[in-house]
Amino acid sequence: MLTIVPGPASRDLGIEVAKCLGADVVDVEYRRFPDGESYVRLTLNVENRDIAVIQSTYPPQDTHLIQLLLLIQAIRSQGAKKVIAVVPYMAYARQDRAFRPHEAVSIATVLRLINYAGASELLTVNIHQPEMLRNAGIPAQNLEATGEIGQYLKGLDLKNPVVYAPDSKAAKMAEETAAMLNISYGWMQKRRDPVTGKISMKEEKAVNVEGRDIALVDDIISTGDTVVMAAEILKERGARNIIVACIHPLLIGNAYERLIATMAMRIAGTNTIPSKISCITIAPIIAEALRKRI
Ligand code: R5P
Repeated sequence: MLTIVPGPASRDLGIEVAKCLGADVVDVEYRRFPDGESYVRLTLNVENRDIAVIQSTYPPQDTHLIQLLLLIQAIRSQGAKKVIAVVPYMAYARQDRAFRPHEAVSIATVLRLINYAGASELLTVNIHQPEMLRNAGIPAQNLEATGEIGQYLKGLDLKNPVVYAPDSKAAKMAEETAAMLNISYGWMQKRRDPVTGKISMKEEKAVNVEGRDIALVDDIISTGDTVVMAAEILKERGARNIIVACIHPLLIGNAYERLIATMAMRIAGTNTIPSKISCITIAPIIAEALRKRI
């Protein structure tokens, strides 16, 4: 039988996954030392148990990542049989190559750390570049939550809708979502300056949006720059309403307020990251993946 350890960053999600599975929960005590270092403690012995530790690594990424590594180590050293690390939002995943000479490929190091800490398997959700999981050195699976986004959009009363992606990486997500809704999709080509981070965008696969509702989908909303720019282009072309749906709602700074001010529409995300828009749960897909491993 699997036991769930919900990490401090994903307590609600961890409890929800445990409910889906009817699994036991072992709570975590955690605090920060006066110098800023993280402390974690399991509240029960987990010897001989199979454990899934669920901890997302959204901001503060480094704290959440260290908490995850410490938890894996604590679980391992108590003699758990198996430790499945479930990391719904994988920090550092966007730095998946050296964009400029001499840069660190951050995600490769993060994945190795999870392995070195003692995880026997890794599960994550819509990681930015799934191929990078080959660097983990342990069995690692990327779970897809695009279907959950599609289900959410299906439940809305959209008028003559079309799906759009704000960049080429999200084009596949748009294509899959459009297929679920049996509608067409378009996408933008985005370029990000590797030094300034500033973006520019042009339409690559254009669809008529005049008077239509747009479901704008992306994996991550961070500063909001990407979806705001895409929405502005679509609005200029006569779109009626724009509904934004993403997997990982980081919503840094005033991203949420900017999105609302620019588009006056609905914004939704999954609960890989808890936020005011995290209304789509991914607990069932995590539970299903864990069920296959019990
Ligand atoms: C980038 O390739 C990702 O898919 C997102 O489009 C990006 O991370 C969003 O960032 P921001 O909201 O800061 O534009």
